[in-house]
Amino acid sequence: MQEKYPPKPENSADLDRESTASVQVAASRPVGINLCVIGGGFVGLVTAAGFAEFGHSVVCVEKDLARFNLLCKGEIPFYEKKLPELIKRNIECNRLTFSNDLVESVTGRQVIFIAVGTPESKSGRTDSTALDEIAHLLAENLQSGQIIVLKSTVPVGTGSRFKQILNSNSYSERNISVVNNPEFLREGNAVDDFFHPRRIVIGCDEARAIEIVAQVYRLGMKPGVPIVTTNNETAEMIKYASNAFLATKIGFINELAGLCDPIGINVLEVTRAMRLDPRIGPEFLSPGPGWGGSCFRKDMKELMGLADSMEFPLIIARAVLESNQRQHLYVVEKVRRLTGSLSNARIGILGLSFKAGTSDMRDSPAIPIINELVKEGALVVAYDPQAKEQARECLPDLKLVDNIYDTADKADCLVILTEWQEFQLLDFKRIKTIMNRPNLVDARNLLTPETVRRYGLNYLGMGQS
Ligand code: UGA
Repeated sequence: MQEKYPPKPENSADLDRESTASVQVAASRPVGINLCVIGGGFVGLVTAAGFAEFGHSVVCVEKDLARFNLLCKGEIPFYEKKLPELIKRNIECNRLTFSNDLVESVTGRQVIFIAVGTPESKSGRTDSTALDEIAHLLAENLQSGQIIVLKSTVPVGTGSRFKQILNSNSYSERNISVVNNPEFLREGNAVDDFFHPRRIVIGCDEARAIEIVAQVYRLGMKPGVPIVTTNNETAEMIKYASNAFLATKIGFINELAGLCDPIGINVLEVTRAMRLDPRIGPEFLSPGPGWGGSCFRKDMKELMGLADSMEFPLIIARAVLESNQRQHLYVVEKVRRLTGSLSNARIGILGLSFKAGTSDMRDSPAIPIINELVKEGALVVAYDPQAKEQARECLPDLKLVDNIYDTADKADCLVILTEWQEFQLLDFKRIKTIMNRPNLVDARNLLTPETVRRYGLNYLGMGQS
């Protein structure tokens, strides 16, 4: 069933609003295209709402009934800044609708984006079950000329395989194009990343399909964003290579911070100079408790699995995974350094999500770190401004509180695991009086060590000893 909403007339205020898309509205504005986005998860919703904001007519398909009902009301089941407003506004303008009927939704839509999950399977490679189900369903229902765009992160070779499935039907002269257009949206920053991409990658060997997908972006995108066109396999590899490289970069700086610690060098001064070299680049050089999230580990494992199957094992990738696990234990080691034995020590955790700006706890470093603390006999209490609900699912025995000061109450050590801005505004005077012992491990280097120490707290950052 497709939900319809009364159209809201566009007015000048709409065009003036502080939205990236409105900046692109030119006098000779090209017309919007009828799009379908399959998947109402994080990527699907940002993509659907972003394209609707460009001026396309978008139907977003979500098969989970509870989630579908929520979306129809303009609500989303996770925290992502700017996304609820974007969705609401486009629902009201009737450019964005939701449906839970895939077949009805793809009918008459020129371009169909697939943004469903591609989780890790038991083997460590990608579980493409959801994707394959969709491919077979689409094969029965598509018309010649429709374009399927794979937004999901898919194993190398999936685009070509999809094309075979979609064109293998008995229809004569049917030509369904399959394009790979990987997403590079960071959780917590996804709306800005959608409107200000560093690049758009379009992979296909058919010029017509590439041009139409480029048009979908050109309608609202600021001029100057590089559009990289290539074949399907290369586009698929670009996504894996990008995530694996970013994880490697963070892994390297985490290790370097660990080395700086015993020598007494401040890693932040090292990275300040490194960042100035364009060959190294300024980003993803902040040491932390280990990278997390739904993508890096899963994508590296897929890439490693592919490499193994080609009998060319990836030595660096394997080491990056191992080093990331050690990083979790390194945070625990820092706590131990301040508290001595962890047995019966009360540890207050500030931040549970895998990074700030999201409620997502998938592969969050907080999970192995808390489990290790508990294993060593610590009494752990935690606070996160957004991830409380998700934390209940991943860590059912964890004691959760509602604010920073309840976390600090009678604690022997506070540990900052997520770089939420509110942790920068800690009232150290108050914290010191309510803690049992004034110890603080800042696994995000969020605070200035001198300031914290001035209030009489023992402080350990990452690579800033
Ligand atoms: C990542 C990529 O950055 C996106 O381009 C990609 O689209 C996405 O995966 C995906 O494949 O869907 P995301 O997982 O949202 O995005 O998060 P990142 O901002 O990349 O951060 C990943 C992890 O690295 C977080 O735990 C973060 O705290 C950590 N990190 C990041 C550091 O420890 N240090 C840094 O300097 C940067």
